[in-house]
Amino acid sequence: MERKQLSIAYSEYDNPAELPEEERQLMEQAMRAADGAYAPYSRFHVGAAVRMADGSVATGSNQENVAYPSGLCAERVALFSASAQKPAMPVKALAVVGKDAKGFCEASPCGACRQVMAEYELRFDNEITILCYLAGGRIRRIEGVKSLLPFGFEAEI
Ligand code: THU
Repeated sequence: MERKQLSIAYSEYDNPAELPEEERQLMEQAMRAADGAYAPYSRFHVGAAVRMADGSVATGSNQENVAYPSGLCAERVALFSASAQKPAMPVKALAVVGKDAKGFCEASPCGACRQVMAEYELRFDNEITILCYLAGGRIRRIEGVKSLLPFGFEAEI
């Protein structure tokens, strides 16, 4: 038996203004995208913005449904939209933010969204930078989905 340990590296910024300009803008686009949410059941709005390798941005927001599992998270709405429009373009970065009755708040991608991000990384052999809005306007910056989803499912199918 061998005990092993994984550590993950990430950065935290006090506010979006501290981010590199392109990433600050991406977070702002995610914040605006939250207004497009359709979330009558959870009342929790989420905005996401995806930057592609050519600099273009696709945004998304959570879209709920009365048949609850039929709805989709903001991150996957943005990722699928980005890739549907530019199927050969690598994904560079994704920003995500929550918005409730009190204003902007923390959002961290769910497991299913992490799995989808992992596939875009693998497909284009290109690490994705993930920016999460945290309480009080802080930002968590993670380089590469591996840090969010260690031992994720991979298969040669
Ligand atoms: N949701 C997202 O869109 N992204 C996340 O990262 C977490 C959760 C959505 C799903 C659902 O519409 C609502 O937030 C409450 O869970």
